[in-house]
Amino acid sequence: MSDSDNKEKTALETPGQDKLETDSHWDLDILGEGPVGRGKLMRTAVGGIALLWGGMTLYPVYSYLKPKPQDKDSETKVTSLEVCKLDELPKGSGRNFRFGSTPALIIHTPDGELHAFKAICTHLGCTVQYRNDKDAIWCACHGGQYDSHTGKNVAGPPPKPLTPLKAEVVDGKIVVSQA
Ligand code: FES
Repeated sequence: MSDSDNKEKTALETPGQDKLETDSHWDLDILGEGPVGRGKLMRTAVGGIALLWGGMTLYPVYSYLKPKPQDKDSETKVTSLEVCKLDELPKGSGRNFRFGSTPALIIHTPDGELHAFKAICTHLGCTVQYRNDKDAIWCACHGGQYDSHTGKNVAGPPPKPLTPLKAEVVDGKIVVSQA
């Protein structure tokens, strides 16, 4: 073999060239746990991006669904409310109104009594109403029925009575407050 042949072979088989052709991973020692392969690095990067994307997507949904502090305040701050004048609610009629953020119901019964309740059905939470043809509180969702004087569940699926509120007449006006 001639000198020129030897020089040519040496140039082709340099140690650096071998490494470039056979090394399929990067020798990055990111966490001090040895070399990290390209696949592992890509999986970590994709996982991080997916986590970031998920957070950015879910946070607005969480913010929207989270109860607002002012909603809770408006419910807890209302302890008494003037609904209407007594002569605006004739005997044998009822009126739905908002007690803070809570649906409520005032009833002037045919025998002249005033009764108020939270108008939230104890079955699945529909809003109940007074029905003068039955002199009863009625839930249209599944036909639940409550006594108009006591709020007791008397027919249909509701498992419990309605939550009572206190109703009184002050200076000719109906005032409802927490019972
Ligand atoms: S929600 Fe009222 S009866 Fe079902």
